[in-house]
Amino acid sequence: DSTIIIMLVVAYLLGSIPSGVWIGKIFYGKDIRQFGSGNMGTTNTFRVLGKKAGIIVLLVDMLKGTLAACQPYLFGSHINVLIIGCAAVIGHVFPLFARFRGGKAVATSAGILLAYSPLFFLVAWVIFLTTLYLSSMVSIASMVGMTLITLLSLFFFHDYILTLIALALTIFVFYRHKGNIARIRSGQENLVPFGLVYKR
Ligand code: G3P
Repeated sequence: DSTIIIMLVVAYLLGSIPSGVWIGKIFYGKDIRQFGSGNMGTTNTFRVLGKKAGIIVLLVDMLKGTLAACQPYLFGSHINVLIIGCAAVIGHVFPLFARFRGGKAVATSAGILLAYSPLFFLVAWVIFLTTLYLSSMVSIASMVGMTLITLLSLFFFHDYILTLIALALTIFVFYRHKGNIARIRSGQENLVPFGLVYKR
């Protein structure tokens, strides 16, 4: 019905907010897409603009997913929050406000998971940080995190929509990390100053 369409459109528009690009341009006079990995996400914001901007972009990119996915709760609709949340992820990756060239779907996917299950969201963070500690590569932590969350969803939830959406987002995240996968394979992926590999 029409509420679902409105929720999907609002979710897409929220997801389309290119926080990294806007914060970089407004507060630092820099377009982060021209530096580092060229991505507009959290990792590249940390890399190019530093900690403060990175944390803000992480929070905004996650929150856009969470807010978008919470709409069914607000409007008393029974549609699965993840379905609405996916429109925000699509907005984040193909943003209306940045010529449809956006991020890699990770932070916003985490945000919609928060709306679905705060506990599972925490589990995702533990997996992500553990993998990041072991690899010092956000791309690896992102892909491993998405994969394990999909597998764990099978064991801990009996919600086929959750598992299907997690699987679809995982495939999507891998696809968006094509460039990272090539760099990992050639040993040239960017490291973050955290964890075991960085120390070596
Ligand atoms: O979520 C994006 C991250 O996994 C990789 O970012 O900038 O290193 O390509 P980046």
